[in-house]
Amino acid sequence: RALSQDELKQQAAWKAVEYVKSGMRLGLGTGSTAAFAVERIASLLKDGTLKDLVAVPTSIRTYEQAKSLGIPLATLAEQPELDLAIDGADEVDPMLNVVKGRGGALLREKMVELASEKFVCIVDDTKLVEGIGGSKDALPIEVTQFGWDYNLKRLQSLPELEGSTAKLRRTKDGEPYVTDNSNYIIDCYFENGFIKDAQKAADVLSQMVGVVEHGLFLNMVNVVVIAGSNGVEVKDK
Ligand code: A5P
Repeated sequence: RALSQDELKQQAAWKAVEYVKSGMRLGLGTGSTAAFAVERIASLLKDGTLKDLVAVPTSIRTYEQAKSLGIPLATLAEQPELDLAIDGADEVDPMLNVVKGRGGALLREKMVELASEKFVCIVDDTKLVEGIGGSKDALPIEVTQFGWDYNLKRLQSLPELEGSTAKLRRTKDGEPYVTDNSNYIIDCYFENGFIKDAQKAADVLSQMVGVVEHGLFLNMVNVVVIAGSNGVEVKDK
């Protein structure tokens, strides 16, 4: 029987949780794959296999899940140096650069994952791409509400994002999607292919005033755990 995508996500998550040791300070990711890891960590805490963990969540959603499952939580100020972060991704390239933020949590994810000594990314094999930024889906960019339409126009004409169409993310009701940090998200859709120079695009986006954060996570991932129909593969950098 072929495994469902959810079963693959769970396999990747459980494999990554093998990196968790008692006493660790963790970063907890956001999304449907990361949720399996949070659940697994909670159950290993409950049965006593793991002890003395403390975790910083990367979204309000993950905070609520972890809290309801009894995982001890902290803020980044309380735990500025984390041992390990586990999180999903939207796209992963052969260099282990990833795109994140389709679920809307990119800013907190990037902060927590940069504070972690090790970042393990968990995906099913549908997330693998030759080039990140547009192969599968849009590149998410978190912007301030003030001047969002001004920045949308600027993003639209940015040479580094050539070939993409920028759109404000909206909810099902047509309202602007608001992040955990009260910002908006502009999604850049690449019709043909992907970003040519992700590093250059990341540098330019990081310097734009009003752009709070972008979904390019370059040189941040240490390990990718990929679950596919032929089993679970671990790619170490
Ligand atoms: C959250 O904003 C995202 O960065 C997620 O980490 C990413 O979208 C992966 O989510 P899924 O595991 O649900 O695909």
